[in-house]
Amino acid sequence: MRVVSVVGARPQFVKLAPIAREFKLRGFDHQVVHTGQHYDVAMSEALFADFTLPPAQFNLGIGSGTHAAQTARIMMELEPIMQELQPDWVLVYGDTNSTLAAALTASKLRLPIAHVEAGLRSFNRDMPEEINRVLTDHASDLLLAPTDTAVKHLAREGLAISTMLVGDVMADICLSVARAVRDVPPPGLKTPDGEFVVATVHRPYNTDDPQRLTRLLAALATIPVPVLLPAHPRLVEKARSARVDLEQGSIIAIPPVTYSQMMFLLTRARAVATDSGGLQKEAYLMSTPCTTIRSETEWVETLSTGWNALCFEDLGALVPTILRPHPVSAHPSLYGDGNAAARIAEALIGASR
Ligand code: UD1
Repeated sequence: MRVVSVVGARPQFVKLAPIAREFKLRGFDHQVVHTGQHYDVAMSEALFADFTLPPAQFNLGIGSGTHAAQTARIMMELEPIMQELQPDWVLVYGDTNSTLAAALTASKLRLPIAHVEAGLRSFNRDMPEEINRVLTDHASDLLLAPTDTAVKHLAREGLAISTMLVGDVMADICLSVARAVRDVPPPGLKTPDGEFVVATVHRPYNTDDPQRLTRLLAALATIPVPVLLPAHPRLVEKARSARVDLEQGSIIAIPPVTYSQMMFLLTRARAVATDSGGLQKEAYLMSTPCTTIRSETEWVETLSTGWNALCFEDLGALVPTILRPHPVSAHPSLYGDGNAAARIAEALIGASR
């Protein structure tokens, strides 16, 4: 079985890791195409190294650009590679521009597409990721859904026939890395003594308006314990152009961390504040209270038990929400048993018969 995985942005390297491991065990001919959407060492090679993933067989070197330019450039570079490889499956991951570009290219070539993390919806069309998800799901032949909620969304859009509930590959990798780093700090990371909070901010609606960014950082700066802020390149760039310091008050800005480093931080942090999708779920898996700096989340299951809380419009509520008491409510297993990659391999075999 030949599978081509198309990845390009940091969260996709995380999803690739357990899948690449599983495909190797099963002897699949697995070709990885890295679009180059993320290219800084900390955003790309460092994650491959962390997961001991071999370098991708193909790197398109696309880099940054407008959404249209980035998506179109990926499609143009990808088409001849797909034509040459003629895979049994094109595997696309999540909701980035690399995901949509790969799905469109493969669908035009009539190659079978499977979508890992299908069926997520924020119902916020202002997020480019929401458009990417919806279009990718509708172009795909096999929809690999991580949760019951995702299955329901797909059914509502008439896609039940192609949907399979497989669990969440991010749970596979998160649980195994968390076990590995629980007691042994990964190298290259200095953590504050005592309690601390971890924060990440990278979504355009939090970074691109200088006034909002200034207010958001000012709020984080008042937290009475150190706030470790691994800074995404967009955040660094937007803070510089807004002339606002990342390092202020309690905030300790550090370069982006590796996956193992982040999992270690999550095991130790008092709380997490983030606008990332994946980190909300990882915080849940590690039983660390999370505050999501967005008006909605795709991972709605994390909200009902109080382990995750949204805070967007009213930044005055941000610090009290982050510092709310540790939830004592139930902590059900929401994202599968850590064997999603194996189920995905089975699904690909089953659906290609
Ligand atoms: C992308 C995904 C988002 C995901 C995020 C994870 C889309 C539409 N968005 O957002 O879903 O949550 O990845 O990080 O695909 N940059 C660098 N170095 C890099 C990469 C980016 O400096 O290695 C800077 C560039 O200025 C670039 C900006 O960051 O313009 C944004 O990068 P881009 O890939 O467009 O989107 P992300 O915000 O990373």
